[in-house]
Amino acid sequence: MDISIAILEGDGIGPEITRAALQVLDAVAEKFGHRFDKRPAPFGAQAYFDHGSPFPEETKAICDGADVILKGPVGLAVERMNEIPPEHRPELGAILPLRRRFDTFANYRPVRLPKSLASFSPLKASIIGEGLDILMIRELVGGIYFGDKTEGPSTDMKLAKDDCSYTDGQVRRIAKVAFDEARKRKSSMTNVHKANVLATGRFWNAVVEDVAKLYPDVPYRSVLVDNAAYQLVVNPTQFNGVMLLENMQGDILTDQAGGIIGSLGLMPSACVGPEKSYVEPAHGSAPDIAGKNVANPYSMIGSVALMLDLCLGLGEEAQAVWDALFAVFEHGTTGDLPSEGKEILSTSEFAQRVVDKL
Ligand code: IPM
Ligand code: MN
Repeated sequence: MDISIAILEGDGIGPEITRAALQVLDAVAEKFGHRFDKRPAPFGAQAYFDHGSPFPEETKAICDGADVILKGPVGLAVERMNEIPPEHRPELGAILPLRRRFDTFANYRPVRLPKSLASFSPLKASIIGEGLDILMIRELVGGIYFGDKTEGPSTDMKLAKDDCSYTDGQVRRIAKVAFDEARKRKSSMTNVHKANVLATGRFWNAVVEDVAKLYPDVPYRSVLVDNAAYQLVVNPTQFNGVMLLENMQGDILTDQAGGIIGSLGLMPSACVGPEKSYVEPAHGSAPDIAGKNVANPYSMIGSVALMLDLCLGLGEEAQAVWDALFAVFEHGTTGDLPSEGKEILSTSEFAQRVVDKL
């Protein structure tokens, strides 16, 4: 296959983990006979300083013209970020506009920790049990993040307001994605919500319940988000399968999931839209360790695997990357996940081992 990829390496550790991921992608290209045409483009906080926008027009054009987008984390150290006006910070000025532009409503965040790697988790091995394999599916273009925002004028900071709304169509399409994935995996589907307080929560549940009628074969239940946060820590394996979350609740619980498996560096993600998709690690740019060649590149390499699978339909290639990633972890790890008996690898050494396994 001939595939064009917009490469937004981002800030902080972005360039080094993107380099690691591209090394793996090159190995996939060679092994399976594909051609990946890589088109780098500026995106993030540094892009604001260099081009006056965190999501420059040139980058939009490159994304528009590419088959798929590979995005690194964004954001610089706090002092540098404070020099950027709020509307040009990468969150509101780049990431949300990227999601809106391509309507990437379905955010796949796999949470995987096999039993053999239970020592990565801060939880007891007995809690990790036979291993974690949860696919968190987060709605990514609706809810409170995309509602109108009101902030009192600076002379009278008496009120701020964020609107939260969901339409029937928005909930229905993400619920279908979650049920389809659960059916594919022959697993259960857990719907997360806050229906005891929020109107949008009751609405969310009513729509999910309606969609559930189309999937009588998929075991399904609903859990309040606060209880889900608790249960994820005391008994996470009960969620093995698919979890469906709205935008903000999904933002929070996917970070918690990163903590449960030991590092946000283990959280890749794919943001899938009707026509175009992009992939990104679910974590930030870690400016404190940038340029030191110590960051864990799993999330970025895993994002490449998700891209191959979910965005390009190359399931076999994706599986080969996953197998190589977990094979590397048998003997080596990165500094964020120290583990007895395992060698500590740098970012580039980790990537090289994945390439060797491939
Ligand atoms: C994430 C991030 C983003 C979000 C921020 C950076 C806008 O935290 O992808 O989880 O809140 O969605
Ligand atoms: Mn987040």
